[in-house]
Parts: sequence; C-alpha cells; structure tokens
Amino acid sequence: MTEIDRINLVHLAIAARKSAYAPYSRFLVGAALMTSDGIPFTGCNVENTSYGLCICAERTAICKAVSEGHRAFEAIAIAATPFATPCGACRQFIVEFGQQIEVICVDADDPSNMKSWKIDELIPENFKF
Ligand code: THU
Repeated sequence: MTEIDRINLVHLAIAARKSAYAPYSRFLVGAALMTSDGIPFTGCNVENTSYGLCICAERTAICKAVSEGHRAFEAIAIAATPFATPCGACRQFIVEFGQQIEVICVDADDPSNMKSWKIDELIPENFKF
C-alpha cells in the first residue's frame, strides 16, 4: 500500500464511523477494509440493548466483504476517538484471512495520530484449526 492508499482508507474509516450505532457505550468506531483487488468495504459498530450482541466495526466490514464474495484483504483501517486498537475477537477475525493484513489505527479527531502493524504482530501465535 502506498501512503496515499493508506490515507484514503483512513478517511473511509473516519466517514464510516458516522454511521456507528453505539447508544450504550457512546464509543463510535469506523472501519474500512481494502481487498487485494482494490475494492473498499466499510463498517461501523452496531450495539444492542442485550450488550453481548454488540458487533465491532471491523467485523461488520469483514462480514460485508466476505458475504459479497471477497476473501483476500490487504489492509483494514480503524477509526475511533480516543485512538484504539482492535479487540482480541477482531484480531482473530482479521487474521483468519491472512497473517500479513495491515492494520492501521487512527484517532478520528486527530488523523495525524496514526499507527500501523501487520496483524500477526497484534495476535502472535494465533489459533489455527
Ligand atoms: N468496538 C469496536 O467496534 N471495535 C473494537 O475493536 C473494539 C470495540 C466497539 C464495540 C462496542 O460497540 C464499543 O466499541 C465499546 O466497546
């Protein structure tokens, strides 16, 4: 990914965050996933009055892409304020589709605060069946 690609993906994640449905935590998260053939899929967190049913932004984006027939991913950008990294469940969900997927986290209110890793750095020795 070029630096321009990274910045574009981050801005898609920031835009997707505007759709977050988070009336319980009020913690709004947006995600933007880039397929290996250059198609972006976005997602946001979707909460529920039965708290355990809450779905993270990353998993929303991945389910949207997979359900449309895409399984090869290059990167995922995640936008929240304050800056946050993906939860453990989302790390496992991302690594399912490749150890080398780039994870870019950004503070939605201060996009200059951005950091990235390969997913295998965020979930080393990850579970494989
Ligand atoms: N959340 C995400 O969307 N992604 C993460 O990786 C961590 C947490 C959401 C879930 C919940 O709606 C809110 O943030 C607070 O935990």
